[in-house]
Amino acid sequence: MSGGILVLNGPNLNLLGQREPTLYGNQSLEEINQELEEMASATGIRVEFFQSNHEGELVDRIQQARDDFELIIINAGAFSHYSIALHDALRAVNLPVIEVHLSNIYTREEFRHQSLISPVAVGGIFGFGALSYRLAFLAACEIIKKGVRSKG
Ligand code: DQA
Repeated sequence: MSGGILVLNGPNLNLLGQREPTLYGNQSLEEINQELEEMASATGIRVEFFQSNHEGELVDRIQQARDDFELIIINAGAFSHYSIALHDALRAVNLPVIEVHLSNIYTREEFRHQSLISPVAVGGIFGFGALSYRLAFLAACEIIKKGVRSKG
């Protein structure tokens, strides 16, 4: 089956709900994904989820997405700030990418101010906690409805 949205999460995001809740909120990744699943079924858009703490596994999943999905939503966690491999993989698959962060990375430590995902993304949403994912999903649905299948 092809088409739809692939939602990727990077390292430590499997700990959402328990991890620094004042920064990242109380919702688990499963709960966030469940909300996206509900949005997907309401719009009839297919969605799949993948989380890994391993850079190479994320690269593999991005490569496999090439012919299977129309768009990628990614919170690459700490990899956002230094992974040239994820940057290259996203660039290589040439699907529209939406970057997500729960926190506002620009008001935090300086090492979080750079993102290597942003240059290969159509846009990004950060700072709204779990709502960042739902806003990104909304944007993704609009992009798919308009038939924008590639970054060009
Ligand atoms: C994060 C921000 C990153 O700096 C951090 O390493 C994360 C989470 C966020 O969603 O706010 O793991 O991507």
